[in-house]
Amino acid sequence: MKTDVVLGLQWGDEGKGKIVDVLTPSYDVIARFQGGPNAGHSLRFDNKDIVLHTIPSGIFRNNVTNLIGNGVVIDPVILMEEIKVIEAMGVDVTTRLCISKRAHLIMPTHRILDAASEAAKGKTKIGSTLKGIGPAYMDKTGRNGLRIGDILSPHFKDRYDTLKEKHIGLLSQFDYDYQVEDYEKQWFDSIEALKQFTFVESEYLVNERLSKGNRILAEGAQGSLLDIDFGSYPYVTSSSTICAGVCTGLGVAPGKVGDVLGIFKAYCTRVGSGPFPTELDNDTGENIRQIGHEFGATTGRPRRTGWLDLVALRYAVMLSGVSRLIMTKADVLDTFDTIKVAVAYRINGKETHQLPFEIDEPIEPVYKEFKGWKKPISGFHAEEELPYELMNYVRFIEKEVGVPISIISVGPDREQTIIR
Ligand code: GDP
Ligand code: IMO
Ligand code: MG
Repeated sequence: MKTDVVLGLQWGDEGKGKIVDVLTPSYDVIARFQGGPNAGHSLRFDNKDIVLHTIPSGIFRNNVTNLIGNGVVIDPVILMEEIKVIEAMGVDVTTRLCISKRAHLIMPTHRILDAASEAAKGKTKIGSTLKGIGPAYMDKTGRNGLRIGDILSPHFKDRYDTLKEKHIGLLSQFDYDYQVEDYEKQWFDSIEALKQFTFVESEYLVNERLSKGNRILAEGAQGSLLDIDFGSYPYVTSSSTICAGVCTGLGVAPGKVGDVLGIFKAYCTRVGSGPFPTELDNDTGENIRQIGHEFGATTGRPRRTGWLDLVALRYAVMLSGVSRLIMTKADVLDTFDTIKVAVAYRINGKETHQLPFEIDEPIEPVYKEFKGWKKPISGFHAEEELPYELMNYVRFIEKEVGVPISIISVGPDREQTIIR
């Protein structure tokens, strides 16, 4: 068997959580492979709303293993808080969750370093979620990090103290006040609590399950345009958010990657700083924000909004070899008279279909305009019910991107999903 993949193709928040929850009944294992508690994946079912940060979005379905892979960075406090919420809903998390021994830990001082670094950047700040993601991945690649498997070592506390001292040295270079003790206490309590969960050599688990014929779905976090290599650097996150991240983040060989499902919103959003060519800093943008409830699931920050950008979407599809597309939130545009889509960029008077290297290049999007469908679509369950104007929009995107749209999501609930 092969591992199928769900990826966000924009700047995150495309609806990955919802879609993974919908697809889970067809899989035996759901695995996160990168990112950490910077992610906020929303699920809605049975009139309940849940936001997951570290736990895979398959956790609410029976008989499915949910794996936090080696590529993920874990804050034990946030993970334990999530587990408590899910357990309070009657789910036995201990039997459904496995954590890779190779996943790295986010320490309290990583969070402080993140905040100090952002504060020092002032206007040029990344707009990080301040969860300590960047500093934790820096220690991983700098070969200093602490991993989940280390929790069981008698030397764990010594290693923690050594790395904490190093962080305190780094913090002395910032003019930044901080207090670590309260969070540190919660952190060690949560580390103790985590010991009741199953720590695994996840690369073996994944490959053995594939050999046995199990179906695995890898759940991406963030989006392709926040990728450490291909995003709008430095306004990116610190992990590989594209399909390649599945190989390193789970130990899956490239030949064992199956279907790559790419999710995009019918428009675009971005939270945090960095270029956003089709951004609508006007009433239309505000309308999208209000109707689409575009406020961060992790930080509550208002998300920036804009039209769909096909230059960026084609780029994301190219980087990950996306085989099927999933479009979410078209229902947010139900009341719009017209809808625009960027088909190219004009940079210094020249038209291009490529994302420029320079992030401060003045980009003027070249738009194609579509007639709106002007009717509510959230109650529809079949493709045949969808308005002609929406299907026109769908077919145009498929033609421009060269990949079929196989799922159209028309609302936040599990049930509001049209599989074509
Ligand atoms: P993720 O990070 O990719 O999982 O996405 P988020 O959960 O951060 O943000 C997506 C938001 O849109 C959540 O509030 C979802 O409940 C909601 N959502 C997902 N799909 C749809 C949809 O098709 N229509 C509407 N109106 N909301 C949706
Ligand atoms: P999900 O999985 C949207 C953004 C932050 C910031 C940049 C770096 O819910 O789609 P970081 O905390 O990683 O140092 O922040 O990346 N960002 C996200 N934006 N959705 C996310 O995750 C994000 N995770 C990080 O806003 O601009
Ligand atoms: Mg999100």
